[in-house]
Amino acid sequence: MAKVLVTRPIPGKALEKLKKAHEVEVYSGPDKMPREKLLESVKGVDAILSTLTERIDKEVFEATGNQLKIVANYAVGFDNIDVKEAKARGVMVGNTPSSLGDAVAEFAVTLAMCLARQVLPADEFVRAEKYKVWDPNIFLGIDLSKKVLGIVGAGTIGSVVGKRMQAVFDMKVIYHNRSKNEEFEKVTGGKLVSLKELVEKADVISLHVPLTDETRHMIGGEEFGKMKSSAILINTARGPVVHEGALVEALEKKKIWGAALDVFEEEVKGEHKHLDKTDWAKLKRLKNVILTPHIASATQEAREEMSEMAVDNILRALGGEKPKYLVEARR
Ligand code: GLV
Ligand code: GLV
Repeated sequence: MAKVLVTRPIPGKALEKLKKAHEVEVYSGPDKMPREKLLESVKGVDAILSTLTERIDKEVFEATGNQLKIVANYAVGFDNIDVKEAKARGVMVGNTPSSLGDAVAEFAVTLAMCLARQVLPADEFVRAEKYKVWDPNIFLGIDLSKKVLGIVGAGTIGSVVGKRMQAVFDMKVIYHNRSKNEEFEKVTGGKLVSLKELVEKADVISLHVPLTDETRHMIGGEEFGKMKSSAILINTARGPVVHEGALVEALEKKKIWGAALDVFEEEVKGEHKHLDKTDWAKLKRLKNVILTPHIASATQEAREEMSEMAVDNILRALGGEKPKYLVEARR
């Protein structure tokens, strides 16, 4: 039996399968696994099932030891893992792709629709007993139909968002990506444009890039300055892709219609170091922003499939087979 550390209880039955095959320790504390606890618990394990809240870096690899075969991340993104360091040590890195494409895409679409029609403030209005009589002038939203959708990052999730929005709202799709993606163009009818053109032309901008040196603060003051005053920005990718300070300013000054953030520059409880306290307080008070706790992939279907994929990765790696879902180091 090999030793496996699971840094957090995960949904579904996959964990039971793992426990039958190997000696498994699951950390089930109330919060994310404290760093010291992680460094202590990885000692001597053959596999780690990590989540996006654990930074898996050189220090972790050193604490674990040379027997480590795989780090199976419970996420499609893997910016929390030093993949180059893993590779240098011969450790495989797995993720959970495709399983969550539909879930994340549906959530991005949901957020865009809620913003366009001011669903959250309207709900708050009724709950606050402010709805007295029908009024032709309240909560005027904007149509999405036939507008321009700008997808930043034409991977699996970006493709599903484009395909759905095109099919349901007859939206015209433009996209920005490192390279032309024929498959994306086929399913969405999308056209490749520069980031500058995308932010100028899109009515809805949805971000689906991984976090890398290239994408950090990809959307900042300059980009907000070019957006339409009716633009909607959706971030279900990674927080640091958007410069939050610049976003607060754009929302406050109504340079754009609204934004939805499912991810933040700092996701650790109570810490928003990148923003000063006043900016964070402002963001929370603004009505043209929706803030959700990184739940885009949170459907029962997606999360259970993610469990299956991560566990399958570990079972194969420990059984001497090649895991199905491995990632490569990004530049
Ligand atoms: C979630 O953010 C993921 O990367 O799966
Ligand atoms: C609205 O309720 C309408 O009937 O137009």
